[in-house]
Amino acid sequence: MAKDKVFTSWDDTHSLLWERQPIRLAHGLHKSPLFSTDRLAELIERYPREHYSLVQTGAKESRRLWREGEIGNLSGRQVMDAVAGGGLWLNLRNVSGVDSAYRAMLDDMFAEIAANVPGFEAPKYQAGILISSPDAQVYYHADLPGQGLIQIAGRKRVYVYPNSAPFLKPEHLEDIALFDVEVDIPYAPWYDAHAQVLDLEPGQMLSWPLNAPHRVENLGTVNISMTVSYVNDEIRRADIVNLANGLLRHRFGYQPKSRNLRGPSFFAKAVLQKLLRDSSWVKRERSARRPIDFRLDAAQPGRIVDLPKAA
Ligand SMILES: [Fe+2]
Repeated sequence: MAKDKVFTSWDDTHSLLWERQPIRLAHGLHKSPLFSTDRLAELIERYPREHYSLVQTGAKESRRLWREGEIGNLSGRQVMDAVAGGGLWLNLRNVSGVDSAYRAMLDDMFAEIAANVPGFEAPKYQAGILISSPDAQVYYHADLPGQGLIQIAGRKRVYVYPNSAPFLKPEHLEDIALFDVEVDIPYAPWYDAHAQVLDLEPGQMLSWPLNAPHRVENLGTVNISMTVSYVNDEIRRADIVNLANGLLRHRFGYQPKSRNLRGPSFFAKAVLQKLLRDSSWVKRERSARRPIDFRLDAAQPGRIVDLPKAA
């Protein structure tokens, strides 16, 4: 029997628009047993600590809140119940590296995209599973790799903004590369008039141009989504320039003038970022911006326990 296709209604316009405009595609992944409640609960329970992020987010219109925490000793079901209770966002990052069944699903998906989009190459890709509360939101941010968002359960609204100034400036990408925090770039409500607003429901996927800033609001239901990200040679070179320019600006107080992806300035930056990317200065700056400061509590479902501030 032939395998089901991942994309159920890909047409020529999608091939032309891929990576150039936000596009909504139809897929069949939401029917996969890999996203059943039992399978996800089991996955949460054995998920390596270094690969998940648990984030407490503010409800819509509330004050901006973005704290990172840990699952503690809850079962997978209890974690999912806590998410259903509100204000949380669990990201099982790199699920394709943690569990080979998701990897196989992703291999099929990227093979189909490559078959549909002439010239598309993604030698490296990965996926994460997001399980988020009915009132959760993800603030305005941009991602460095190519990105797609696959809706499995629940409904969400995605605002996608142009990947150019004033919505996104080179120094924003440099800060993301250097500090590893995507949600710190400036946003103003008037940006929304320039966004494409797309609602997603199970069986739909959204793809957008590289680095396009976006923000997400859940529409009153628990959401299960899969994010996919990919890197090719151009994106890898851009990352090197972003990190090196960020280092020049923040560590050495120098205003970088070039964003060349090739030639002598690129080569010098490749060396610079390789030397410094794992330095204690970078590590200290990153961890100061990403503290872990709460934990879920099995004894008191729905409660969040503040962890003492690290010295
Ligand atoms: Fe994103």
